[in-house]
Parts: sequence; C-alpha cells; structure tokens
Amino acid sequence: MRRAIVIDTDPGQDDAVAILLALALGERFDLRAITAVAGNVAVAQTAANARRIVELAGHPGLAVHAGCAAPLVLKLETAEFVCGPDGLDGAGLPPPALPPAGGHGVDTLVALLRAAAPASVTLCMLGPLTNLALALRLAPDIGPRIDQVVLMGGAMGLGNMTPAAEYNIYADPHAAAVVLGAGLRVTLIGLHLTLTAIASHAQVARIGALATRAGRAVHGMLTRPRAGGLGSVGHPMHDVCVIGFLAWPELFTGRDCFVEVETGAGPLRGRTTIDWHGRLRQPANAHVLDRIDAAPFFDRAIDALARLP
Ligand code: RIB
Ligand code: CA
Repeated sequence: MRRAIVIDTDPGQDDAVAILLALALGERFDLRAITAVAGNVAVAQTAANARRIVELAGHPGLAVHAGCAAPLVLKLETAEFVCGPDGLDGAGLPPPALPPAGGHGVDTLVALLRAAAPASVTLCMLGPLTNLALALRLAPDIGPRIDQVVLMGGAMGLGNMTPAAEYNIYADPHAAAVVLGAGLRVTLIGLHLTLTAIASHAQVARIGALATRAGRAVHGMLTRPRAGGLGSVGHPMHDVCVIGFLAWPELFTGRDCFVEVETGAGPLRGRTTIDWHGRLRQPANAHVLDRIDAAPFFDRAIDALARLP
C-alpha cells in the first residue's frame, strides 16, 4: 500500500533532491501536500522553490503551501552561505509557473490531518520544525492522526551551524522541543548519520549522465561551487535520508532514545543531547538512527531519479 506523506521543507538543494525522490517513488508514496517553512532562505523563496521542484518533476498539480516565516521565538537565521541566494543555486530552474496554493501551511497540516484516518499520515520534516510545532499547539487533536514523524535534524556529535548544533534544530530549537515532547512516534536522522551519506564524485557523475531535466538540475545543484567545499569531498544528502529511510528501512539501524533539545540562547543553543546509552533513565521520545548502508542507498536513489522527466 502507498504510504500517505506530507513533506515539510525549506528547499535547499538536499530538500529538492528529497522531494524529487519521493515523487520518483510514486508507487510507494502518496505525497498529499508540501508545506514550506522559513529556513535555508525566506519562506516566500522556499515555497517558490518547492513549486519549481514539483514542476520540474512533472507534478504541477501538487499543492505547495507557504507556512511560517520565522521560528517560534528566535529571529530567523538563513543559510545562503550553503545554498546560495535563492536556495537552489546550481539548479538552473526557471521561476515557478504557478504561485503557492492558498491557505497557510500550518492550517493545511491541521486540515489534512483532521481529515485523515487515525495514524495514517507520515510527516517528512526536512527543515526547522516550526510548522509542525505550531500545528500541534493550535490543534493538539491532530497527534493521533500522525503515523510517524521522520525528521532530519540534530547530531550525536559536532554540529554544522555551531560546534553544538545542527542547522534545523539550531534554527528553531523551541519548535524541536515541542515536537519531541508531543508523544509522537519520531525518527531522528542526525548529522552523525547524514555525513556518512555523502554523494561521491562518481555518484554525482552518474546523476549527470541521466540526460533528463531532473538529472541536469540535480547535477547542477550538487556540483555548484561551495565555499571551502563546506568540509566534505562530495555533497551531503541530509534530507534525502528521510525519504530513503521510509523507502528502504533495511538500509538503516538505530535505537529508541531520550533526546533533549537545548533552547537556551548560549553556545549550546540547538544542541540535541541524545542519550544513546540510557544514562539519564528517561523514557525514549525518539528512534535515533545511527547508520546507513550508503552504497545501496545511492544506487537505489539514482535508479529512482532516472525515472523522472
Ligand atoms: O543540517 C542539514 C539541514 O540543514 C538540511 O535540512 C539542509 O537542507 C540544511 O540547510
Ligand atoms: Ca532542509
């Protein structure tokens, strides 16, 4: 049976590839809507970027809703230094033909979940968790409609935004604390895993050889010049791991853990304390993934992307 999913996202090159992969795997995923959030760039741009991606993939009818323009409490800190001024540097895509759908992303999440059967919708969270946190505060009754939340965020070691914190959790730590405290089934995919899923030059070249519009756009994004290479030899596929996990869970391992988010404004802002060894004796609030078998993940992802126009 196809899994009903919603993608909440701040595209972002890796978000874009994740959306493309979900659309390419249409026999597995029933993508009900995309909700955009402020993150890598401002929300008007992340919503426009999500539209550019669904149009590229040949799904112009898929609804994209713009959500929150700022984190719950803190000032928005964007990441153009990674993604470029429009968030999709290198994609070479035109502006979207259509504007985002009417209706705020948070209202869309609430309405869509209220209309769904119990435990029937999977939420794929690829950016700061602001939209979901606000939806849970606005409409706590949506919790039982959610089958699971799979989020890219956090780290068991060093961060990428600060030494302590990964970007998505750093950007809106209060939202992350709300989501982790909501009693939902949450799977957390942090940097400690995603930094072992770096697309190598050979894998990126395979994408470039696809000779499709999507292949060209992905290749352009993954080969764009990045200041200092941003610390890796290939290109990280952080958000793509969320879709990869849902499609191919056998390629991942993990365990149930207690995770706490630092919401203070100091140097530990956004740190995820992941109690991997259960030292704190707190009930688990997330299934934390620790390993991916990256070679088959890339093989399968590239094979799937090859089906797109
Ligand atoms: O830290 C990685 C996350 O932040 C990803 O969601 C990526 O899009 C980035 O900006
Ligand atoms: Ca993202």
